[in-house]
Amino acid sequence: MDSILVRGNGPLNGSIHIAGAKNACLALMPATLLSDEPLTLTNAPRLSDIRTMALLLQSLGAEVTSLQEGKVLAMSSHDLTSHTADYDIVRKMRASFLVLGPLLARAGEASVSLPGGCAIGARPVDLHLKAMEALGADLELRDGYVHAKAQGGLKGAVIDFPMVSVGATENALMAATLAKGTTEIRNAAREPEIVDLARCLRAMGARIEGEGSATITIEGVDRLGGTTHPVVTDRIELGTYMLAPAICGGQVECLGGRIELVGAFCEKLDAAGISVEETERGLKVARKNGRVGAVDVKTEPFPGFPTDLQAQMMALLCTAEGSSVLEERIFENRFMHAPELTRMGANIEVHGGHATVHGVEKLRGARVMATDLRASVSLILAALAAEGETVVSRVYHLDRGYERVEEKLGACGALIERISGG
Ligand code: EPZ
Repeated sequence: MDSILVRGNGPLNGSIHIAGAKNACLALMPATLLSDEPLTLTNAPRLSDIRTMALLLQSLGAEVTSLQEGKVLAMSSHDLTSHTADYDIVRKMRASFLVLGPLLARAGEASVSLPGGCAIGARPVDLHLKAMEALGADLELRDGYVHAKAQGGLKGAVIDFPMVSVGATENALMAATLAKGTTEIRNAAREPEIVDLARCLRAMGARIEGEGSATITIEGVDRLGGTTHPVVTDRIELGTYMLAPAICGGQVECLGGRIELVGAFCEKLDAAGISVEETERGLKVARKNGRVGAVDVKTEPFPGFPTDLQAQMMALLCTAEGSSVLEERIFENRFMHAPELTRMGANIEVHGGHATVHGVEKLRGARVMATDLRASVSLILAALAAEGETVVSRVYHLDRGYERVEEKLGACGALIERISGG
């Protein structure tokens, strides 16, 4: 298992190219199952989660070819050979569940392993299942799998989600494109990844309105065609690298970044004393002056502050002047980075869904362990500003969602290296 070694060495200066969004790409890839014509994604991120989704699609009979060193994914689902998403793949990555809607819509049946819980919480899939049932699917839960059938095809319906779910909205949206009649998704997720998926589906011939708002209307069509679609910029990778100069000082320009992807996050940065300037190429970030100020943060569905930036924001607030309260409202167990940050000298108290961070002057390097994707990068950010050496182990989590972290931060002056097998 690889580790990352970081030697804290002060300000960072330079520019970082922000990749295509992992979570958009993981929803766009299963859309290939909806059509017998090719779907090509450009600006794809090069990550292990993307390779896992490619393996899953291939196990269903899709062809997935990685071109231009992985930046382009050429997919074709002319002939589907299986309707079963196997436990061995789904347990590795929950986003695998996103094949349910497209498979069901195209083939009239699907068997998808139930993903189970994960480190950040129980993460049930009941909303995905309710959406499929609303569209007329018969579901049976057996042997750890959901077996879904839609004899005579799916039928348009009103799907009224009791809470906002990104994945359930994506599954419902994809399934509804080929359902007979009109579907209305109420209380839909509004994340940029949903908007990106809707745009791609529309380019494939789907009739969709209202993406980015709480109500999405889909008029089912008989078939979808192919298209070439660029994956939207990764707003979480963007926010993560915006925090690097905020924590260490210096100035970093995040290429491809746009304020509208990270609006609520930028408001908190501003309140903490970080300036964000929109340039022609992206977003330029620097501290306004002096020490960062404390701010309170509450995670919410988009357009609120993203849960996927909570751990990284905590790393910033560890050395802020004063105390900050972070409230995690999306996942019940997403503060595992707090005890690791404490090992680096942070002063954090966690009570249920709240973490109070009392800012300290300096963090110190330590051996720490990554527990999930965003936790691992928060430890790297903290390490960049800490005195001495930090070794972050179990970085396979990091590789699921961040490509070439060492190179990107190294180019801005960070002393960071990967230790293979460490
Ligand atoms: C997506 O997960 C992202 N993953 C997550 O990114 C992200 O943290 C999350 O959205 C919230 O923004 C992908 O897009 C692949 P949800 P998803 O359904 O779709 C509950 C990362 O680090 N819920 O919006 O699984 C659920 O337990 C990750 O990149 C149900 O109760 O999230 C959670 O509390 C991790 N029943 C809340 O809804 C359901 O059927 C929101 O989850 C579905 C969800």
